[in-house]
Amino acid sequence: MKDYKGVLITGASSGIGEAMAIQYARTHGDKVFLALTGRNVIRLQNVRDTCVSYGAKVEIGIFDVCETETLQKFVLRMVNDYDVDVIVANAGVSEATLKRTTYEESWKDLFDVNVTGAMNTVTPAIPIFKKRGRGQLVVTASLASFYLYTAYGASKAAVKRAFEALRVELEPHGIEVNCICPGLVDTRMADAIMDGAVKQTTLASLVPTVTSYVLTTSAQASEIIIDGLERDVECICFPRHQYYLVALMSSLPERLQKLSWSLFGVNEKFE
Ligand SMILES: NC(=O)c1ccc[n+]([C@@H]2O[C@H](COP(=O)([O-])OP(=O)(O)OC[C@H]3O[C@@H](n4cnc5c(N)ncnc54)[C@H](OP(=O)(O)O)[C@@H]3O)[C@@H](O)[C@H]2O)c1
Repeated sequence: MKDYKGVLITGASSGIGEAMAIQYARTHGDKVFLALTGRNVIRLQNVRDTCVSYGAKVEIGIFDVCETETLQKFVLRMVNDYDVDVIVANAGVSEATLKRTTYEESWKDLFDVNVTGAMNTVTPAIPIFKKRGRGQLVVTASLASFYLYTAYGASKAAVKRAFEALRVELEPHGIEVNCICPGLVDTRMADAIMDGAVKQTTLASLVPTVTSYVLTTSAQASEIIIDGLERDVECICFPRHQYYLVALMSSLPERLQKLSWSLFGVNEKFE
């Protein structure tokens, strides 16, 4: 197990971020400091209390990742004052969670949070990690970075690409850079997605019977993610069957691709 001193996770008030925070606290106890951020005060305080009950020292930051100055000041304070050495830019939104109805709104809002917010989470730490000669920078992208969804897929492909480049650039400085690409994980985001597009498709009729095959729990997701981060896996794609499926679908001839995408209902339907 890696000797983490401090882990900063954005989007820790629910879902994947919450599960990761709790796993770090459960496995490292009083040996780990956690800096957790989100916007929902009650949910974030509940996550903090759970982590504290495992012995972890926790600081919370309640702000929007689009508030660049506040975000960057928080990151710098956590890295300098608490020796944070792992930063997970996990906060994210989709068309479904934001309930956007036009391409313009959805493009701007998703890129502000998923791309600019994620980059601004990790960049303040780079000069300090370089001086230390160690550190780990992580982004939660998505298997959607491999296929459709205009704004969401593009925003996740953008951060995946950026972190792949950072991995090469920062490797000589002893800094590890990793990208997480989950398929469907059972969180508030998945609830929002499945209430919308997926339920209107052919797959929807199968969902009740194959839920466990389609959805990974957030606890399972955090086990897979933290194991991958410990082994410095460049891109942690899971579950494997969904990864192989999207990789296969992306390589099909166009006509077959269109058919397979329509089955999954991944096309946005804005006017
Ligand atoms: N669930 C999936 O199927 C799935 C699949 C692939 C990738 N992902 C990615 O996994 C990450 C976590 O999502 P999740 O599934 O765990 O969904 P979730 O339960 O909705 O959690 C999203 C987290 O991001 C935070 N957040 C959203 N917008 C924010 C903003 N503007 N400023 C600050 N925090 C913000 C939320 O905080 P508040 O609620 O406190 O605002 C929450 O803690 C996202 O990047 C998502 O794109 C999810």
